Amino acid sequence: MRFPLAEAINPNPFERNNTMEVIVCKNYDEVSAKSAEIVAAVIKAKPNGVLGLATGSTPEGMYAKLVEMNKKGEIDFSGITTVNLDEYYPISPENDQSYRYFMNKNLFDHVNIDKAKTNVPNGAAPDGDAEAARYEAYVRSLGGADIQVLGIGRNGHIAFNEPDTELVPVTHVTSLTEDTIDANARFFASAADVPTHALTMGMGTILSAKKIIILANGKNKHDAVMQMLKGTVTTSCPASFLNLHDDVILVCDEACYNG
Ligand code: PGA
Repeated sequence: MRFPLAEAINPNPFERNNTMEVIVCKNYDEVSAKSAEIVAAVIKAKPNGVLGLATGSTPEGMYAKLVEMNKKGEIDFSGITTVNLDEYYPISPENDQSYRYFMNKNLFDHVNIDKAKTNVPNGAAPDGDAEAARYEAYVRSLGGADIQVLGIGRNGHIAFNEPDTELVPVTHVTSLTEDTIDANARFFASAADVPTHALTMGMGTILSAKKIIILANGKNKHDAVMQMLKGTVTTSCPASFLNLHDDVILVCDEACYNG
């Protein structure tokens, strides 16, 4: 099912974004298939393009589908460059909880991509601020991503841009909120083992992408997604900043959409 935008949520066209496309899928498998299809279309249209990638449990199914498509010869990663949204800081790239490790395990190790063209902020850099500045300049030198894949936190965060009174537009070092530490604790031995800081693209870096696809699955993302779909912008829901972009597709399941 396709909705031009959730008009039921805010029927006033002057108060809402008119361009965000919402694709409601039956289940997680369909979310994965649909989002892989959208990313694959960009790879086919621009074989030397730039993919902005995300970690988290939501895009895992999409990566599995992209690996399948690559193995079948339907998509070719050989000319593709990737830029990931974020990384814990500090963390070694070899740590099995690092986002670099996640990307190798879920995508890069299984497709014909040149690893030298895959970029994740360096969690082992000695100077976090210098690494953030280097990464920002690098993403900008590429002209931004041709498509940026995003997840959304249950608190509305995008990458590690957490709800706050102010948001930072560029790549930066940030501290994680309790809610995010709590949500990510399932991947670590305990909440105390979750790193307290991260390197993250800012909302401006993310909005520099030519196209954005945001994936959301499950009832626990309903509130954040509805806040985003209202069409207004607030730092208390970083995802709402996507309303400033004119080519955003939300792919979510019915449980997320209906709550
Ligand atoms: P999740 O994380 O896909 O694991 O739910 C999304 C996010 O926090 O951005």
